[in-house]
Amino acid sequence: MIRDVLKMGDPRLLRVAEPVSDFGSPHLRALIEDMLDTMAARDGAGIAAPQIGVNLRVVIFGVESHPNYPGAEPVPQTVLINPVIEVLSPLEQEGWEGCLSVPGMRGWVPRFGHIRYRGADAQGKPIDRTATDFHARVVQHECDHLDGILYPQRIRDLTRFGFIEALFPGQKLSDD
Ligand code: NI
Repeated sequence: MIRDVLKMGDPRLLRVAEPVSDFGSPHLRALIEDMLDTMAARDGAGIAAPQIGVNLRVVIFGVESHPNYPGAEPVPQTVLINPVIEVLSPLEQEGWEGCLSVPGMRGWVPRFGHIRYRGADAQGKPIDRTATDFHARVVQHECDHLDGILYPQRIRDLTRFGFIEALFPGQKLSDD
């Protein structure tokens, strides 16, 4: 079921989400289905459970090719629960980000360029991957949602935060 996405300013987006313990449960399966439906309907690169008002440490992400991020390497379709990120290099990269909770806008956001992330899938099976560049950016963006952080809070140069149609005139970009 497609769910409403909370918008920046809603205090529910600022909470620290709770860990999942009921792996394989119908409740968790239904949550993940709703997140997948909502992400697909909004053409997002990822979504976190708090964005649909569910305060659990669940994110999904995946990009085959996305018009907003031309040239970005594909990111595997992933359900990631109770994620933990380890930074493998202190080097940061800056890049444009959008968010379904901040519709119509983009910001220039620093992220670590090389990370390891661990967690579990919907059945509780461990996930342990390293990621670089755009893949690493997507994971850091989604996991930030679980700690109540939205990408505008990460922007250092607020002159590079604005409305899509003003930043990229003539380009057709979706919300996320
Ligand atoms: Ni987001």
